Amino acid sequence: MEVKFVLNGKEVKVDVKPTAILTDVLREKLGVTSVKKGCETGDCGACAVLLDGELVNSCIVLAPTVAGKSVTTVEGLIINGEMDIIQKRLAEYHGTQCGYCTPGMVIAIKALLNKNPKPSEAEIRRAIAGNLCRCTGYQKIVEAVQSITA
Ligand code: FES
Ligand code: FES
Repeated sequence: MEVKFVLNGKEVKVDVKPTAILTDVLREKLGVTSVKKGCETGDCGACAVLLDGELVNSCIVLAPTVAGKSVTTVEGLIINGEMDIIQKRLAEYHGTQCGYCTPGMVIAIKALLNKNPKPSEAEIRRAIAGNLCRCTGYQKIVEAVQSITA
């Protein structure tokens, strides 16, 4: 079946099976490899995207359900070659960590700041609680977000 949606500001059309998972469609059909496959059960946040502005784990979203909607990945946060402030501050504060968890972290932080531009430390930590890092930690990420919201 054909599904049309807006991906990072541009309309896209893809042919998918009714049971296709959004993560797979983004990565394999549309070349958006920032969206990672971790647990594939909605538990780790590596596949996080914004769906009509709401944070979702794309591994538990059926691709046909995004028809007519807007999907944003980290690529969509770069405007005219300029990174979003979240991306810049994560780099400056050494909060980028690995390429596997970082895109989902960025998307989770974007979802937070869109709704709450002045989050407390507890709110920042809660916002990224669904993004699991298996190896380092969260402190530098929290500091990077606090540098934006201070
Ligand atoms: S891969 Fe989707 S939440 Fe882990
Ligand atoms: S999973 Fe990415 S730094 Fe730990």
